[in-house]
Amino acid sequence: MTYDESTLAGLTADAAQIMGRYPVKRSALLPMLHLVQSVDGYVSPDGIQFCADQLELTAAEVSAVATFYTQYKRRPNGEYQVGVCTNTLCAVMGGDRIWDELSEHVGVGHDETTEDGTITLERLECNAACDYAPVMMVNWEFFDNQTPESAKQVVDDLRAGKDVAPTRGPAKVCSFKEVSRVLAGFEDGRADEDQGSARRPSPVSRPRRPRAGRREPSDRARSRPQRHVGCREVLEHRHVHRRRRLRGAEDRARHGSDRHRAGREGLGPARSWRRRLPDRNEVGLPAAG
Ligand code: FES
Repeated sequence: MTYDESTLAGLTADAAQIMGRYPVKRSALLPMLHLVQSVDGYVSPDGIQFCADQLELTAAEVSAVATFYTQYKRRPNGEYQVGVCTNTLCAVMGGDRIWDELSEHVGVGHDETTEDGTITLERLECNAACDYAPVMMVNWEFFDNQTPESAKQVVDDLRAGKDVAPTRGPAKVCSFKEVSRVLAGFEDGRADEDQGSARRPSPVSRPRRPRAGRREPSDRARSRPQRHVGCREVLEHRHVHRRRRLRGAEDRARHGSDRHRAGREGLGPARSWRRRLPDRNEVGLPAAG
């Protein structure tokens, strides 16, 4: 290992603290990998060996975990991990355009780092923030309702060393190493720095006004998530039902009922022709002896 004495001492003290949170040492592997990233900026070979020594695992076992999760980086990472969501909803809302323009702007592709070492660009799958699509993340802080211009501005400011505020969460985006330390379980005292809610979410319909004589929904029905549909959708839905009903009536009039028609055309349900086996009392077995 190439850690100097003071780095190794710091890592060992932090590792002891992390391991103390778990009844079994090896359970501490995930936060330990974040700890290594908070020092090296990625899961380095030294970091792997350190985790293996501390947790009494083999280096191969530690590597197997580190290569499984995308949050662990196996190459030196940029100071800011910039992820653009290009999953379905964000993509149609402009995520693909943001990705194309941003990638061209900084001159790197997926999982690549800019020459100055500030930005690592990444295509992300859904960030579970679809209501604010298209969404970008910087070191796992949300940037909602982005445009190609706003995304490029964020990246330019980060590269210029300016403080950049996400659209919710803390007042400023921290560096990859700082965030890794938080993920290892060491608080940075910014947990209460919530700037309030995110920008305007997608519109939702107004709650229905109760009509006279209408039965109140049960608690169970009330707790079910509401699906908001527009008038047009409702009407089209009804038309489809009506058309299907009419078509079914026509068919029945022409061919008789579905059941008889299926029988005539050999489309009836599969039936079992196997006879019931007699049980032991029905079988006349010869008397023993
Ligand atoms: S599709 Fe982008 S956040 Fe869900």
